[in-house]
Amino acid sequence: MKLIGPFKQIITLANLPLRGRISDEQIDIITDGGILVNNGLIQKVGNFKMLKTENPDTETELMDGEQIVLPGFVDSHTHICFGGNRANDFAMRNAGKTYLEIAESGGGIWSSVQHTRNASEEELLKTLVERISFLISLGITTIEIKSGYGLDVENELKMLRIIKKAQGQTKARLVPTCLSAHLKPRDFDGTNQEYLEYILTEILPKVKKEGLAQRVDIFIEKSAFQPEESKDFLLKTKDLGFEVTVHADQFTPGSSRIAVEVGAKSADHLEATIDEDIEFLAQSDTVATALPGASLGLGEKFTPARKLLDAGAIVAIASDWNPGSAPMGNLITQASILATFEKLTTAEVLAGMTFRAAYALGLEDIGKLEAGKKADFVTFKTDNFQNVLYNQGSLNAENVYISGNLNH
Ligand code: NIG
Ligand code: FE
Repeated sequence: MKLIGPFKQIITLANLPLRGRISDEQIDIITDGGILVNNGLIQKVGNFKMLKTENPDTETELMDGEQIVLPGFVDSHTHICFGGNRANDFAMRNAGKTYLEIAESGGGIWSSVQHTRNASEEELLKTLVERISFLISLGITTIEIKSGYGLDVENELKMLRIIKKAQGQTKARLVPTCLSAHLKPRDFDGTNQEYLEYILTEILPKVKKEGLAQRVDIFIEKSAFQPEESKDFLLKTKDLGFEVTVHADQFTPGSSRIAVEVGAKSADHLEATIDEDIEFLAQSDTVATALPGASLGLGEKFTPARKLLDAGAIVAIASDWNPGSAPMGNLITQASILATFEKLTTAEVLAGMTFRAAYALGLEDIGKLEAGKKADFVTFKTDNFQNVLYNQGSLNAENVYISGNLNH
């Protein structure tokens, strides 16, 4: 057991609701606080002096009292295992080229697939671990990571095995997701439906057998997979025992409805979601995940997070860090910018990057600082928690703790 503190403020988020609006006044602040940690779990959060008096013999990790503490952030949607980069796509988009023109001139998802297939395992692992370290430096302690740049048995398994290896090299909690249904690869000889069938029969059983992922994702969009074939795929995937999540309504509305209908853990993107489907999402337990990094990378509109929250949805915010649409990777900057455009409260943004994102991943033991939860937290050298978003990512995290141990 050890006592960590004192901290100027501890923002536990413990009392905040899973869904809907939250005002900053609802945030409880523990001043001059301490965190009692036992076996990587939070034993108690409270006033530092009181905890010290109650536990006089406990080892103390003494802090300077000048920092605020928040739960470790959760990035519930990334594609950070990839080879190559797509700076040329970015430049071409900004020069006015269309998606189709970029794909035809060798860009798009397919170009990342080729780079990822051609990259050595060592190289992919090294760059993946570097990206994980960057995310930890921001205060992110749990990271979802998708496959989806392999797109055949050999290369999808290669990606998922690398993600598993990365877990051996970092203390961050990694949550792998199989996104073989990102796009039908150009070298697959068959229809979309045949490719989805190939995933179900050739890829997922191996993923399951090797314990490489418990979640499956699909990109439902005109340029990728169509609504009906996707719904069928998702239902069959669930029958195989996977949880599901969906890239929904990025450019074309309609697919968030499918996500809800099949009981997906989350529907992510939603930039094009229509009002009726916002209501539908809000009535469900499917988390609506905003990905402002993709809006910023593409110069497209933001997810209607304000409307979703007002309707009572569970709204998470994730980075979508990928080489194509979201190259930045700084979730704190992105979430702060989303807040200014969508008019979100600090509490709503912090909830979206912590316990609401954790809920999307099915993890109930992270995201809040309270007894029994994992001792994952981030500190900032400032006197007010609102400064974290106010500085739009330029206030660096000071210390990052995972399971009660200092990691950054
Ligand atoms: O979430 N929308 C589809 N997939 C990714 C983009 C991947 C890529 O362009 O490489 C996304 O934005
Ligand atoms: Fe994505």
